[in-house]
Amino acid sequence: MIRPPGQPYLSAPQIRRRVRTLAASIHKTYRNRPLTIVALLKGSVFFVVDLLRHLDPDTEVEFWNISSYQGTRSTGKIRGLHHCRGNFVGRDILLIDDILDSGLTLDRTRAHAKKLGARTVQICVLLSKKRKRVHAVKARWVGFSIKDEFVVGYGLDLDQRYRALPSIRTLPKGV
Ligand code: IMP
Ligand code: MG
Repeated sequence: MIRPPGQPYLSAPQIRRRVRTLAASIHKTYRNRPLTIVALLKGSVFFVVDLLRHLDPDTEVEFWNISSYQGTRSTGKIRGLHHCRGNFVGRDILLIDDILDSGLTLDRTRAHAKKLGARTVQICVLLSKKRKRVHAVKARWVGFSIKDEFVVGYGLDLDQRYRALPSIRTLPKGV
């Protein structure tokens, strides 16, 4: 196994405990309403699977494969949204992403889910960077508020690397 990059930031047990409490809160909120989860790929893949283990078995799941990042910077554009579909008419949608940064990704995906007929759209992110957002997006559920640093692991990547790390680590900016 290669030496992991950067510095440790959030351990696997810390993430596991937090995911469990988030799932309990989501479960309570949607108790009597059929829920569709929309997971943004690829960054949310560990997070959504771990959440789903604690949600209702009839929760529906869609995966939307979109991207905006190159290296440690956002390109300012979302690629892949026109392929994203789902049977959303009249349904409650919960968007799941790994991290809320500028707000671009969740702003655009929320608008797309509404266009597909969603009754409500809420947002759940594992991480939220403490910074000024370019797009006004508020997540109803946030796992951890983190400083404005580049992080990898538990699904988060740097140019497709390090997703498989079980914990989250910080990398120096501009790598
Ligand atoms: P936003 O569109 O600027 O809010 O960025 C959200 C997307 O950028 C996320 O879905 C991530 O894929 C990616 N991203 C933002 N910050 C980081 C980071 O620190 N590490 C890895 N990916 C990130
Ligand atoms: Mg991503």
